[in-house]
Amino acid sequence: MCGVVGYVGKGYCRNYILEGLGRLEYRGYDSSGFACIDPQTKRLAYHRAEGQLINLIHKLEGLPIDGHIGIGHTRWATHGGISEKNAHPQFDCTESIAVVHNGIIENHHHLKTELLAKNHIFLSDTDTEVVAHVCEQFFKESSSINEAILSITQKLSGAYAFVAMFQNQSDQLIAVRKGSPLCIGIGKEQMFVASDPLAFAGFTDTVLFLPDESYALVNESNIQLFDFKGKKIEPTLTTLDIQWSNDGKNGFKHYMLKEIYEQKSGIQATLSHLRSNEKDIWGQLGLTNEYVQNLKVLSIVAAGTSWHAGRIAQFFFEKLCLLPTHVMLASEFRYMPYFAQQNNLSIFISQSGETVDTLECLYLTKSMKAPSLALTNVATSALAREAGGALITHAGREIAVASTKAFSTQLTALFWFAHKMALEKRLISYRQMEHACDDLLIAAEVLENSIEKYFTKISKELAPFYAQFKRFIFLGRNISYPFAMEAALKLKEISYIFSQCYPAGELKHGPIALLDKETPVILFSNLDEQIYQKVLSNAQEVKARGAHLLTFVFEGQEELASLADHTFIIPRVNPLLGPLAMTGLMQFFVYEIADVLGCPIDKPRNLAKSVTVE
Ligand code: AGP
Repeated sequence: MCGVVGYVGKGYCRNYILEGLGRLEYRGYDSSGFACIDPQTKRLAYHRAEGQLINLIHKLEGLPIDGHIGIGHTRWATHGGISEKNAHPQFDCTESIAVVHNGIIENHHHLKTELLAKNHIFLSDTDTEVVAHVCEQFFKESSSINEAILSITQKLSGAYAFVAMFQNQSDQLIAVRKGSPLCIGIGKEQMFVASDPLAFAGFTDTVLFLPDESYALVNESNIQLFDFKGKKIEPTLTTLDIQWSNDGKNGFKHYMLKEIYEQKSGIQATLSHLRSNEKDIWGQLGLTNEYVQNLKVLSIVAAGTSWHAGRIAQFFFEKLCLLPTHVMLASEFRYMPYFAQQNNLSIFISQSGETVDTLECLYLTKSMKAPSLALTNVATSALAREAGGALITHAGREIAVASTKAFSTQLTALFWFAHKMALEKRLISYRQMEHACDDLLIAAEVLENSIEKYFTKISKELAPFYAQFKRFIFLGRNISYPFAMEAALKLKEISYIFSQCYPAGELKHGPIALLDKETPVILFSNLDEQIYQKVLSNAQEVKARGAHLLTFVFEGQEELASLADHTFIIPRVNPLLGPLAMTGLMQFFVYEIADVLGCPIDKPRNLAKSVTVE
């Protein structure tokens, strides 16, 4: 989603800003812009462009637009269509205040009406332009910068992070954060402001993550930080350990394919980090042995693929730890009644650690003084910083919008964590814990080998065949049901083919009416014998209606395999790891369908990697 980058310092800002915007491209955007203050004329200069960042770079080529202070933005349209006029920076009436913004100003309509009545002139359809005009109004009316900013923050509602640059203050940026992430990189005689520290990684490793509801006055050598009451805050600095390395696609056609193949090593790395931190794990997570032993209920909150990982993990925690586990969609949880429970632990799962829905649920949980844990792939993310403790997956940076290796490493961490908890509750032995780690490594092997086994059949035969269909039904039961949901999400987001998922047992309660020759059914089996028998009946129901059936089965499940028109046979693993073992093949299969259709797989239309607005 939107990327914000700013620079103030001795150097020239344009290259730093364009470089930063390039690094944030993977988050998804549809237009971009750059503004700076010309050191000679002291005037604000800017350019904006629709589409790829390269369009902005081409517009700037050969133009002497540069300076010691500047801001840039990649925009993912929310308010107002994709156009140059709606790209950021947005300006006040006299184009002397420039604003780049991430988030949503919820009362923008009301504010615009007020400002129009005061003769402000608007040129775009964005909520961001309202921020620029609110700044104009309050800077005119206030006797100090702080007074103006406090009035601005009182006026704006919603979640936002914005950076403002003023023509008459050419040495200072103003960075304001409420909800959406914003940080400042502290360099030598230069400062960087960004929505993600990746934008300046390598230029400095000292970073200040703005606390929620705070603002900073930033010049080349100093940061003054205040809360929304105007009280000065002592900045807490963090040392970054991320390096900017763009190793590209490494010979793969898409990042998604590269990331599918990085899963085995991601699982191994995640497991190895968890094991090396195993001693005093509860202390590191802000918990105690007693608290874990007495846990009575678990809550898991997440969105999209991370939610699917949570739904699968529900089976881990309920089976191994005997803990009732509630798995909730962050966007729903936030607006439901909150029932405080004793001996509860809430786990928030997010690849990016910046998903606003999930973050807001964490804030809500914290406000209830309930213990919280983050599971994320980004150790510097807001989720990792704000939760009581953080488990980190080591998938490596995930670039493709479709989550692949984040999902499999989340399952890895959750499976390991459920065993660790069961061990603490004395429900399993240390030996069983060791076996669980071996089982994970076996599942990682199966995940990768299964792709290899069916690589040619999928790419040459099955993907071209299935790419002809306009809609699919996905079925699973028990632990395979949330996995089937993940498969349906994967297919729809990268191929735009309508895909609907049901628990297989629900078929006869309605969805069976959809079955016809034009709607293939993809069915995921289960390693539990009792569930397998039920899945078998569901497959027979599908075939009896003449529908086309593709199954993912495990070795020894010949009856189910023989019912299907096409089948993938996967080696048997620990039954709780059936979904993890099927992950690589499922992802590769849907990837190939999208590739046959020529879809922009790494950046599907309308989607963003990091969903930082509600
Ligand atoms: C998955 O392929 C999607 N891109 C999406 O559902 C994603 O998982 C969701 O937006 C949550 O993101 P997070 O894990 O970074 O919080």
